[in-house]
Amino acid sequence: MRAAVRHEFGPPEVLHVEHVDTPVPADDEVLVRVHAASVNLGDWEILTGEPPYINVLGTLFAPRPRHPVVSSSAPAASPRKRGWFSTPKYKILGGDLAGRVEAIGRKVTRFRPGEEVFGDCGIAGFGAFAEYVCVPEIAALAPKPASLSFEQAAAIPQASFIALQGIRDKGRVRPGQKVLVNGAGGGAGTFAVQLARMYGAEVTGVDGPTKLEMLRSIGAHHVIDYTREDFTRNGQRYDVILDMAAHRSVFEVRRSLTRNGVYLMAGGSGTALWQSALGPLVSWSGNGRVRMLLAALRREDLLTMIELVEAGAVVPVIDRCYPLTEAGEALRRVGHKESLGKVIITM
Ligand SMILES: NC(=O)c1ccc[n+]([C@@H]2O[C@H](COP(=O)([O-])OP(=O)(O)OC[C@H]3O[C@@H](n4cnc5c(N)ncnc54)[C@H](OP(=O)(O)O)[C@@H]3O)[C@@H](O)[C@H]2O)c1
Repeated sequence: MRAAVRHEFGPPEVLHVEHVDTPVPADDEVLVRVHAASVNLGDWEILTGEPPYINVLGTLFAPRPRHPVVSSSAPAASPRKRGWFSTPKYKILGGDLAGRVEAIGRKVTRFRPGEEVFGDCGIAGFGAFAEYVCVPEIAALAPKPASLSFEQAAAIPQASFIALQGIRDKGRVRPGQKVLVNGAGGGAGTFAVQLARMYGAEVTGVDGPTKLEMLRSIGAHHVIDYTREDFTRNGQRYDVILDMAAHRSVFEVRRSLTRNGVYLMAGGSGTALWQSALGPLVSWSGNGRVRMLLAALRREDLLTMIELVEAGAVVPVIDRCYPLTEAGEALRRVGHKESLGKVIITM
């Protein structure tokens, strides 16, 4: 099969389409022929190894790929001497996918060959930027409804896990509350804005100037251009702040919380991450609570999102589609923050 493979950390140029062995499903796995995969900022971070904490956390805690990548079209990577944290664990990136079940392992009961599915294969060690990938049956994989294209379905999983679990589960957003989504114009943010609006909140979306019009079009009541205004200094207070691009100290952000508000940090700088990880301590004094949001990959959440999308309550915002041969360009667009919504790679 063809796959976008990298052998080292670096810019998109380290990514090449190679012929590699097609993985064979284990007893508990489904082999999916990928039709579309979507790019998350996390893919860029894993590609480049930046910020470094992603790399350290990934090396220590993230699952090993279940299938070795054996390339038949490229010379073996030069055996450069590398440190523990500088050897990429994942050669084929990509978590979000939509495609058709090609084969199933002996113990698989939930899926049948030929069925259209979508989901997140991160738990199996990624690999969606390829023509085929094996996904454990218990992973976040669900039937794809015919009403959604492969591209739309591939746009949903990871971004919507963060958004749904942030807005519905951890934020417990209720009608009349004020919700601010920072990094609202990205993959996860566009879902979060729509969900917060659906749950009856007054929604403020913060992002760069090119994304504000789109944010209004998907339901943001107010928009803030972060290049012109610092939301932590405008005197407004919010019941829930969901932060996809945390670059301020959590102590600054807390100024913008109501007394019982909650700040959920999902992505951003290493400093903000460590501060949020100490959330219960940080929350001890002052306004509201500070929490790090670690999204779980859940099949039930995929099913919820499908219901919402089919009902028209939430729309996946798709920026552009790229062929597999331009996977590097697709990653660059996300990494350089040029996308309006989700970037898709089609096979
Ligand atoms: N917690 C978890 O479980 C989990 C799981 C997966 C991913 N993540 C993380 O979640 C984050 C968001 O992912 P994503 O796929 O939605 O990323 P994305 O599509 O790149 O969106 C990020 C958005 O933030 C904006 N932004 C950048 N700097 C900003 C600033 N200072 N203030 C406000 N907005 C700013 C970007 O727009 P500009 O064009 O203006 O820069 C972009 O629209 C990533 O860091 C990812 O690693 C977390």
